Amino acid sequence: MGVRFKGWGTAVPDRVVTNDDLSKTLDTSDEWIRERTGIRERRIGGTAKSLGVTAGQRALAASGYGVDDIDFLVVATTTPDRITPATATLIAAEMGLTCPAMDVNAACSGFMYAVRTAYGLLETGQRRVLVIGAENLSRWVDWSDRNMAVLLADGAGATVLEYDETGNDLLSFSLGANGNWADLLTCEHEGFFQMDGKEVFRRAVRVVVDSAEQAMADADVKAEDIALVVPHQANIRIIQAATQRLGIDMERAVVVLDRYGNTSSASIPLAMDDAIANGRVKAGEYALLTGFGAGMTWASAVVRWS
Ligand code: COA
Repeated sequence: MGVRFKGWGTAVPDRVVTNDDLSKTLDTSDEWIRERTGIRERRIGGTAKSLGVTAGQRALAASGYGVDDIDFLVVATTTPDRITPATATLIAAEMGLTCPAMDVNAACSGFMYAVRTAYGLLETGQRRVLVIGAENLSRWVDWSDRNMAVLLADGAGATVLEYDETGNDLLSFSLGANGNWADLLTCEHEGFFQMDGKEVFRRAVRVVVDSAEQAMADADVKAEDIALVVPHQANIRIIQAATQRLGIDMERAVVVLDRYGNTSSASIPLAMDDAIANGRVKAGEYALLTGFGAGMTWASAVVRWS
């Protein structure tokens, strides 16, 4: 069986918030944020629905398909517009999709969980699945809490996955979850994101490395074969530590967190879109897509661009 990526699209709010902007109201600095996280600025605004619709429309246009060609919509979001109905139904209505639509919440691993879900749907009879990661994290940030305010931001990214007997892009997956670590990064109803940053950092590196190694072993691919790493964009130091432990040159990793901060489910498609725009996605080459997030959850996949 084959599943191919058929087009990507993204959306970010227009409003740019720089580190200096944050320093005006928080006890922080551009220097600290850049050194400790790699983030220079982020985009704030929109809703999961509004950003998701734009990203979804752009991915659909890039795929060459229309709304009637999509037979399932999976939206990864940690920050749905409402508890119910699912943001996917709101996005589907706005886009004119009439197919089944549902949300997946696996925090910052959400996009990869949604891709894994789409793979399963394509394996069992669907032809084309639109996968969208859409986040409005800023709504759940306490803007007087420097721990979270410097990290989180808004955005969306999307792709169309198609069943295709002539080629296959997705060679392996390694997903996991451990709810015993739920309190390390959490947001209660009517509350704000809270995090034990140091512990999240430590465990993130470990789960990314372990799941990436498992996915590479399952795909029978070695670290030196990986031409491109598309990691979840949380902290440049997590990406550096993980690639170093995996034995993959940091030059091969896509980094967009300097411009967008941590956009959770949107961060991997935002990075993918950037890699495509810069000519870094080449037929026949191997890529590692890898994410981690609250839960904790983690998810890696090895891709070979057909
Ligand atoms: N601005 C300025 N100073 C800050 C600060 C901020 N936003 N946050 C913390 N500090 C201070 C601390 O008070 C501490 O000061 P001290 O040395 O006087 O005690 C110092 O900076 C170092 O703090 P520390 O917490 O040790 O920093 P860190 O190197 O662990 O970086 C994070 C903090 C949050 C950036 C880092 O732990 C991290 O990225 N963790 C993972 C978070 C993550 O990826 N979450 C998303 C998961 S999907």
